[in-house]
Amino acid sequence: MSNILKELSRTLRVPFSRFLAFRRLREYHVRPRSIEETVDWAMRFGRYGYFTIHTLQKRSEITALAKAVAALKPKTILEIGTARGGTLLIWASLASERVITCDLLHREAQRPLLEALPPPGSPCRVTLLTGDSHQADFKQRVARELGDRKVDFLFIDGDHTEAGVAQDYNDYREFVRPGGIIAFHDIIENQPFASNQVYHFWKKVKPGQTIEEFIDDPQQCGFGIGIIRVPA
Ligand SMILES: C[S@@+](CC[C@H](N)C(=O)[O-])C[C@H]1O[C@@H](n2cnc3c(N)ncnc32)[C@H](O)[C@@H]1O
Repeated sequence: MSNILKELSRTLRVPFSRFLAFRRLREYHVRPRSIEETVDWAMRFGRYGYFTIHTLQKRSEITALAKAVAALKPKTILEIGTARGGTLLIWASLASERVITCDLLHREAQRPLLEALPPPGSPCRVTLLTGDSHQADFKQRVARELGDRKVDFLFIDGDHTEAGVAQDYNDYREFVRPGGIIAFHDIIENQPFASNQVYHFWKKVKPGQTIEEFIDDPQQCGFGIGIIRVPA
């Protein structure tokens, strides 16, 4: 099927896909979830046309990261790279006040589903900011959203080029509170795409910092999460 026909079919199915996706969300929300269960939901929520929630992460790596973030008892989380909202589902279960998630594009149809991710009774609010994280006016929008707040956790999972990830780190680390965490995805050297260059940035940034690496298998292709603990 051509891309145009696929888009048309997805558009025509919006009401039905929305119904199925929100029914699935209610299933997830039916009781409190452990971190392991939440990760499982982020990986297997399902695909419902424009209402897909999914993450491409290694289970052991993202679980270790989620536990490190949970230990901070985070109020506010900032994510660069929403994609299908899989990691957002995890952050929305951990933050007690706010998750701000940024991407070049958010499908308008998907927005209400992503905003509804925090568990029932959670005061956490999800804000989707659409735009290029490298643009100065976009950084100002993030700053305006945060106001006086600092974030407990910054997840950099957007532009994977060395220059791109370095710019996100240099631009957004000022928003992280002392004692907070900054994490990077795809720190493994062996990557499936030449544009995945986080390893080269990570090698340069980690000396002298308090870091941890969550790597499922050192021989794997792609993935790997590195975290920097901001001095308290
Ligand atoms: C690997 S995906 C994020 C995956 C997501 N964190 C997860 O695991 O569920 C990377 C996303 O970053 C977005 N992105 C790439 N460059 C960006 C930029 N300069 N500003 C904002 N988002 C960007 C892409 O559009 C893509 O959706």
